Amino acid sequence: MADFNIVSGGVYPKLASGIAKKLNKKLLKVELKRFANGERYIRYEEPVRQKDLFIIQSFAEVNGYSLNDAIIELCLLIDAAKRASAREITVVLPILPYARQDRKARNREPISISVILRTLEMLGVSRIITIDLHSAQTQAIFSQPFDHLIASPLITATLQKLTANDKSAYLLVSPDAGRAKETEQYAEDLDLEYLHLPKSRSRENSSHIKRPSNITGVQNKKCIIIDDMIDTGGTLITAATTLKNSGAKDIIVATTHGILSNDAATRFKESPISSLYIVDTLPQHEHQAILGKKLKIISVAPLIAEAIDRISKGDSLDFMFKGKNNR
Ligand code: R5P
Repeated sequence: MADFNIVSGGVYPKLASGIAKKLNKKLLKVELKRFANGERYIRYEEPVRQKDLFIIQSFAEVNGYSLNDAIIELCLLIDAAKRASAREITVVLPILPYARQDRKARNREPISISVILRTLEMLGVSRIITIDLHSAQTQAIFSQPFDHLIASPLITATLQKLTANDKSAYLLVSPDAGRAKETEQYAEDLDLEYLHLPKSRSRENSSHIKRPSNITGVQNKKCIIIDDMIDTGGTLITAATTLKNSGAKDIIVATTHGILSNDAATRFKESPISSLYIVDTLPQHEHQAILGKKLKIISVAPLIAEAIDRISKGDSLDFMFKGKNNR
């Protein structure tokens, strides 16, 4: 790949601009609009013939987009590029939509992430870059190169600064069994103690999370809970409540994908959590307006820019994962 261009979808152009700036590039000019009936429209305002494109699209309900609008806009950007004779098309999806719908949990359900990835492949995408997949096996659905980046080096660097001077005051907490291995890895990297917090779901209502009201071993500790994503906030707010009731001195949360659906930002504001570290794989300005200083943003732009730079030069990405991107 000799030269390349960066294209931004409409959900998070600020992130795309930040990435382009780090790579000394300008975003390719694209017209993006919504018709009165809700259909989306795109047009490249510059030629893309024989160009390698990195199309960056994030997924969130912001800027007049629904999550599904963002998906269709991405598809239109790929289709138009293909029809205008672009060469390689890499899609950069800092958060992969529908990634949690990766199996048939009940009969007669779709596997929604399979629909998304097979559509991208059918449209002619030659490579996908994403961050902290819900499940690493998801890559198997797409038969072209798939670069699964991890945010843990960014989160580890931030937590290292926070904890360096008083390691014994902190305790890492895994919010459920699914995050146990990752939490153990963070504990090793940060040289901190850890514990796993039990979580179960009500049989009558699966969105109702059950936690023990009290646990031992957290008294007077500054607890740090790390999760791959916050959606409704149920997982982390219930965890924080248990820790608070058990005598924790402070509760800090770090996550990669800060979706914060519905009123989650307000509920975090009112929760016992003192600081919420979020990697900005999707826009955070609306959450920032509610959470103020409680929300601390970890910029993902350097990670993505480095990956694009290495891919464009044909360099290995291995040192960015260090074998930790296979979960
Ligand atoms: C669960 O498997 C994930 O790692 C997250 O803990 C979960 O998706 C977060 O969702 P919510 O914020 O709605 O509890």
